[in-house]
Order: sequence, then structure tokens, then C-alpha cells
Amino acid sequence: MHEIYNPAEDSYLLIRVLSNEIPEMLNKNKKLKILEIGSGSGILLEMLKKLGVSKDNIFSCDLNPLAVEHCKKLGFNCIESNLFENIKEKFDLIIFNPPYLPRDIREPLSSQLSTTGGKKGNETINRFLKQSKEYLNKDGKIFLLTSSISGKIKFGKYRKKMLDKEKLFFEEIYVWELK
Ligand SMILES: C[S@@+](CC[C@H](N)C(=O)[O-])C[C@H]1O[C@@H](n2cnc3c(N)ncnc32)[C@H](O)[C@@H]1O
Repeated sequence: MHEIYNPAEDSYLLIRVLSNEIPEMLNKNKKLKILEIGSGSGILLEMLKKLGVSKDNIFSCDLNPLAVEHCKKLGFNCIESNLFENIKEKFDLIIFNPPYLPRDIREPLSSQLSTTGGKKGNETINRFLKQSKEYLNKDGKIFLLTSSISGKIKFGKYRKKMLDKEKLFFEEIYVWELK
């Protein structure tokens, strides 16, 4: 059974970015429609609600059924989906704190789904980047977290701006705004 991800430094860096960015975005568009891929414990969904995003405009999915059940119990729209597989709409903002660590056989199976992004750590992120454009409204954007220890990230045609970063013990993590 896969565990629900326990919020960590990556979650808290995104919390900081949301606190800095969402008020201004809401000022411009009160009906901001947001999708979080990989909602886990729902910590970022709760933050969006706290910042004033209407619950009806917050959507989320996770590959882990336990996380989906948990976020639904918190009262959020959440479905089981492998990235965008079961997503049918477009959004003004898509948020993803992905699994980004390179595969490590010492990592327990129960937490791999949340932490391991393929052999070099970049596979889930690159799949996400390849699919994401179709799900953005005009002028929509993405907040994506990556790490210095993931393999090469293929940002494609997105214009990217680093919104925040944090130096950790053995890596640096970044949050990118992609348009
Ligand atoms: C690093 S955790 C982030 C959880 C939470 N958003 C946070 O910031 O604390 C990554 C989440 O993505 C989910 N996940 C992994 N691969 C996925 C995929 N292909 N599609 C959807 N969710 C996925 C995991 O189950 C996990 O909940």
C-alpha cells in the first residue's frame, strides 16, 4: 500500500510561493480555476482555500487512491488520475510538486510513488511537461517544483521564471513559473 506523502521542505516551499503569488492572481481574476496534480495530504489545497480561492474552483488528482480518499474527506474535488489521464478541463493555474528523486533500491516501496520520478528522477516531470499545455487556459500558467538532483528537465517551449528556491542538505529545490 502506498503511503500518503508527509508534507516536507518541498511542500513548504510551494506554500511560500502560493502565499506570495495567489493574492495578486486572485485580484486579477476572482474566479481563478486551479488544478493540483499529486495533491497527497491536501496541504496545498488547504493553503489555496485559506488564501481565498473558492473551493468550487480548486480541482485535484493523485495516482494514490488513499490520497484521493483523504482529500475528498477534506471536502476537495479530487479524482484518481495518472497525471492528466482523467482530466477533461482547462485551468488558469496547474500546480505540481512531483516525485523527483532518482530511483534508489533502498527507498521503501510504500513511499516510492511520492518520491521517485523514474531512473534519473526526471521521468514523471517530463511526462507532465509534455502533456500539460493542453490543459491550460489562454494566459494560464504552471507552478512546478524541481530539484538539482533530478535528471535533465525538458521545459520545451515554456518560458520559465524561478519564483523561489531552497538549499537543502544534499540538493537545491526550485519552484518555476511556466508560461
Ligand atoms: C512529493 S508528493 C506531493 C504531495 C503534496 N502535493 C505536497 O506538496 O505535500 C507527490 C504526489 O504526487 C503523487 N503522484 C506521483 N505520481 C503521480 C502521477 N503520475 N499522477 C498523479 N499523481 C502522482 C503522489 O502520490 C504524491 O501524492
